[in-house]
Amino acid sequence: MTFIITIDGPSGAGKGTLARALAHHYNLALLDTGLLYRCVGVKALQSGIALDNQLRLAQIAQTLHPEDLTRYDLRTHEASDASSRVAVFHDVREALLDFQREFAENPPAGFQGSILDGRDTGTVICPHARVKFYITAQVEIRAKRRFKELQARGIQSIYSVVLKDMKERDLRDSQRTEAPLRAAADALTLDTSMLSPEEVLKKAIAFVEMRRSTER
Ligand code: C5P
Repeated sequence: MTFIITIDGPSGAGKGTLARALAHHYNLALLDTGLLYRCVGVKALQSGIALDNQLRLAQIAQTLHPEDLTRYDLRTHEASDASSRVAVFHDVREALLDFQREFAENPPAGFQGSILDGRDTGTVICPHARVKFYITAQVEIRAKRRFKELQARGIQSIYSVVLKDMKERDLRDSQRTEAPLRAAADALTLDTSMLSPEEVLKKAIAFVEMRRSTER
């Protein structure tokens, strides 16, 4: 069975940072599943498709190509907002399911397994993953991190607006009926509010090793 790690949690909690570090440490192929929803949102905006047109949004989702994930405009404020709006729809999520499962089960040659980060990777996409994490942090701290990240990339923003957007997105992601954001029952929850990325990685590796040793 393919070795799969899933990492779920709200935005700005440090999922991506942990996913990259674990991917490097264990030689795992990494899929940031949020990029799929960002692509659907951005393509819809570009083609003038309303963000509540489930049928057309699902068509976009069905025809995504792996190279779409490398678009330069997936991290903007508009992309973040659009992604969580399109992510509420069943047909959109369904259309993206196979791509994610296929990636998880059959990572590209040369990798020891796969790691996926998002909102439902441990609960819906890969419920049989061997190791699951739920990464969270206080919303003010997450907003501060995102604000600094935007500043570092030269994107003008205002902290209070970033915080407001984040709260809105948290609400939409956790209150939707389709695959809402929540921790899988067998996930290790880590609150990164007071932890450095190195401390988070250390705890995560200890958990992976514990899981692996109990399965040998
Ligand atoms: O992780 P990221 O912030 O890039 O995700 C963008 C949006 O995509 C999230 O706010 C969420 O609405 C959606 N998403 C999702 N399921 C995933 C990953 C992301 O619904 N597995």
